[in-house]
Parts: sequence; structure tokens; C-alpha cells
Amino acid sequence: MDAELLLAAVLDVPRARLLTLDDVPDDAADRFGVLLEQRADRVPLQHLTGRAPFRHLELAVGPGVFVPRPETEQLVGWALDQLAGIADPVVVDLGAGSGAIALSLAHEHPRARVTAVERDAGAIEWTRHNAAARAAAGDRPVEVLAGDMTDPELLRDLEGTVDLVVSNPPYVPDGARVPREVADHDPPLALWGGPDGLDVVRRLLVTAARLLRPGGGLGIEHADAQGSALPALVRAHGDFIDVADHPDLAGRPRFTTARRA
Ligand SMILES: C[S@@+](CC[C@H](N)C(=O)[O-])C[C@H]1O[C@@H](n2cnc3c(N)ncnc32)[C@H](O)[C@@H]1O
Repeated sequence: MDAELLLAAVLDVPRARLLTLDDVPDDAADRFGVLLEQRADRVPLQHLTGRAPFRHLELAVGPGVFVPRPETEQLVGWALDQLAGIADPVVVDLGAGSGAIALSLAHEHPRARVTAVERDAGAIEWTRHNAAARAAAGDRPVEVLAGDMTDPELLRDLEGTVDLVVSNPPYVPDGARVPREVADHDPPLALWGGPDGLDVVRRLLVTAARLLRPGGGLGIEHADAQGSALPALVRAHGDFIDVADHPDLAGRPRFTTARRA
């Protein structure tokens, strides 16, 4: 699959078109060989093609930004369900990276007013790039804000008015073994979440509780081993009700949801 996608990228054709190609020009074969070697050396496929599919979008990615994962697509599906029936919902994505969540929400709910918050100076260049591309393609512009999701001053102007806070925060426990594609190529700030992986999440709950209006929705992705710990944390926080956990398509616990009391 990866080899086919790399060859399709080199030839600038859709993958399905490879079946009917009679020939691969020599220069393309050379470039393909170089990419295959890089992929064999565990450079992520998406860094080599420069693109990552996510729901209905294709986002630009590369060194310095977290590659969006298919597991996160369902969190966006849940978020869209929460927004159904709200005319002009106010949405905040905490830790936007490539903009996968924020830009998908803006694309699939054209009236949503979405703010994407990102702390990493390298990653936010990708957020801005993808946001500009989606706005140029006709989606409602997403506001990209350089900021820390744990900052008590973050988005003071939206306090108590937000319909939905959604986040795929860093949640990997410090020292956990991860594949080389992740360890060597995803930015550290996107991954590591302290001894139990939940350091950033604990503080993002404070921000979410402050921003959400009563009844507003909260959705947070987590590691498959955190399917009990994260719901327990949200319940213990005290400001949230209707706490639930949801599996991904592989049946592994993947995201926790709640509503602001
Ligand atoms: C796991 S990545 C998710 C990126 C994107 N939302 C996605 O789902 O593909 C986490 C993102 O949160 C950002 N981040 C980490 N700590 C943050 C903080 N305290 N405030 C804002 N962003 C933060 C990281 O730089 C990274 O881009």
C-alpha cells in the first residue's frame, strides 16, 4: 500500500490509475527508489507524500507537525452530532496541529465559528497554511490562535459561550515505547503527556470548563489504555455531567465526552 501510494505521488496520479499505466519513466523510477528507501528507514508515508487524508479533506503535513490519524475522525463525527441543530455554533479546538479537527468541523458545518489553538511555533505554521488553503477553497475561515491550552487567560472573550470544546491533546505517557515513525518524526509536544500521559489533559479540563456554556459539549481523544482513567478524571473535575467513553473502529477505547454542568 505504501509503495503504491508513493509511486502514485511520484507520478502525480490517483493510486487506482497505477493499474492501467504501461510505463514508469526512468526519472520517476529513480525518485520512487529514493522514497522507498526513506520509507524503509521509517520516515512516515505522509511526510514523503506531503499529504494526509482526514475525513473529507487532504491536509499538508511534514516535519514539525503531528500527522493526523484515522482514529481521530470519529471524534469529529461525534462533534458534528453535537452541533446538529445549533445555527451558528462556537467551537474551540485545543491543540490544532495540522488543523485536522478544526478544519474538518468548519468544512462539514459551514456555519460553525471555529477557533484553533496551537502552542508549538513549528506546528502552527502548518495550521495556518492549511487554514488558508481551506479558506481559499471556500470554507468559512478558521481563526488560528497561538496559545497554550492550559493558560488561564486563553480566549477570555469566549468564556461561558462556547458550544463545543474538542481536543486531541498530547497523551502518551513519558517513556512509552512508540514506533520510530512517531518517536523520530512527530513533534515531542504533540506526544508526551507526563508520567501517566494525562498532565496536559488535567489542565485542559480547567480551560474547557471555563470556556463552555452550560450544556456545551467536550470531546477529548485519549490512549487506548486511558479508557477508564480519563472518564474518571472528567467526573472528578466536578464541572461536567454525562461523562461517557467511546471506542474507535478497532473497538479500542478512544475518546471521552461530557457536557458542561
Ligand atoms: C496529538 S497532536 C493533535 C493535532 C491535531 N489536533 C490532530 O488531531 O491531528 C497535539 C497537538 O497539541 C499541541 N499542544 C501540545 N500542548 C499544547 C498546549 N499546552 N497548548 C496548545 N497546544 C498544545 C501540539 O503541539 C500538537 O500540535
